[in-house]
Amino acid sequence: MTADDGHAGTDGGGTMDGLAVRACERCSDLVESRSRIVNGVGPADAELVFLGEAPGANEDERGEPFVGRSGSILDDALRDAGLARTDVRITNCVRCRPPENRDPTREELGNCRGYLGRELESVDPELVVTLGKVPSEHLLDRSVAVTTEAGNVVDVRLGERTHRALVSVHPAATLYDGSQRETFFETIARAADLAGVGSGSDGGQASLGDY
Ligand code: URA
Repeated sequence: MTADDGHAGTDGGGTMDGLAVRACERCSDLVESRSRIVNGVGPADAELVFLGEAPGANEDERGEPFVGRSGSILDDALRDAGLARTDVRITNCVRCRPPENRDPTREELGNCRGYLGRELESVDPELVVTLGKVPSEHLLDRSVAVTTEAGNVVDVRLGERTHRALVSVHPAATLYDGSQRETFFETIARAADLAGVGSGSDGGQASLGDY
């Protein structure tokens, strides 16, 4: 399958195999800086998808999103919410590690957007949790103050589809600012509840219907 902005295309920019990008050379800087393409992990029919920014060094080495310090914090918050990492899908806006862990550029985000669109369309989750500023602004398509907007539910458009998103601070924010820890953990618990999964859930559908 060839992917071009989420639709079958023929520009040779990349190939997808199911939910995974197998080859892509659209971003010259990232082709240089990556060791591998880091695809999303987790059930192909997950009700909850966590969306990060881009792989860092650990993710690039292991080929899996959120396996470094941020990943441990995410795992802790999931556990508190009654979820295992394997219950949810975890993916990134950009699938290749940017040099020196810089933020992905608008162009790089745009180049990878179609792959994300396909992944979300196929998984069709109840809720997508945007982890931090870059994924939140990428999906909401506006500037987002994540610390004040954390916990807000918004409908977002990606390709042909509308998805329900929950804004969250990035797990790494809890490392620099202890007060963000409570916000992060509460947001993840809320995500589990809204998606109808996890220990505190009462089915979720009714609560999501309120938004
Ligand atoms: N931060 C992200 O945004 N994504 C990862 O995969 C790891 C850390």
